[in-house]
Amino acid sequence: MTAKIIDGKTIAADLRTAVKAETHRLTSEHGMVPGLAVVLVGDNAASKSYVTSKSRAVVEVGMRPFDYHWPADTTEAELIALVQKLNADPAVQGILVQLPLPPQINPARIIASITPDKDVDGFHPINAGRLMTGLPTLMPCTPIACIKLIKSVHPSLLGLDVLMVGRSHIVGNPLSQILLNENATVTVAHTHTRHLQELCRRAEILCVAIGSAEFVRGDWIKPGATVIDVGINRVNHGGKSHIVGDVNYAEAVKVAGAITPVPGGVGPMTIVCLLVNTLRAAYMQAGLPPPSV
Ligand code: GUN
Repeated sequence: MTAKIIDGKTIAADLRTAVKAETHRLTSEHGMVPGLAVVLVGDNAASKSYVTSKSRAVVEVGMRPFDYHWPADTTEAELIALVQKLNADPAVQGILVQLPLPPQINPARIIASITPDKDVDGFHPINAGRLMTGLPTLMPCTPIACIKLIKSVHPSLLGLDVLMVGRSHIVGNPLSQILLNENATVTVAHTHTRHLQELCRRAEILCVAIGSAEFVRGDWIKPGATVIDVGINRVNHGGKSHIVGDVNYAEAVKVAGAITPVPGGVGPMTIVCLLVNTLRAAYMQAGLPPPSV
């Protein structure tokens, strides 16, 4: 038996259609065009390509992009001044400062300078605290993508055993909190965890976000488990470069019940989830109840 492939591309396309409809409703009924400011500092190649995809996606659903590409020698004070200008701009409902930032800029200070209501990355300590205390909030995009993919297989997570491998502030930490809020039984594994393979074998849902190519092997997976692979690792095989996840897909697909491929799983969902957050931020700032997406 091979696993059901969780098709991130198709689920993302459906979600994009729903976001587009809700965006048009906001514009036609309330005269509001959601604006997303994306700020890139420096010339990191991967960041540049993400930022370009984000701006394209924003336009496609009828939102307004505000793109800032500033030089690598931008100072922290200059960047904070830009964020403050965007905080005060009524045409901007969402602000995303692309990470990583150049070494002279402290990312925590930049994130803290964003108005929490416009923090579409969900990284601000206020939003992280709201997630932690079960209050409605803007949550980070990749964890939203993961939970939506998990729910395509398990509409209810009540009591399910989930192992979250990785505890980053961008994925593992917030995703484990979201899973807990969904009443799953959540274990978090990280670099210092002992008996990782045994923990993996117990999980009904295994989420892996560690940035290590094909780290999780097929025989670590409980037969029939759902596997969510957040990794995007570039590897070279025989002189050819390609992308693999944190899970050995060829092995895992023979054991799992359902699995996200890489590419084509979590990746296509994350940008759409950024649009979801921008839409939610816009509805919130307009004093409207949250949209259905
Ligand atoms: N760099 C890598 N992932 C992310 C993300 O989700 N948001 C931002 N702002 N930067 C990133």
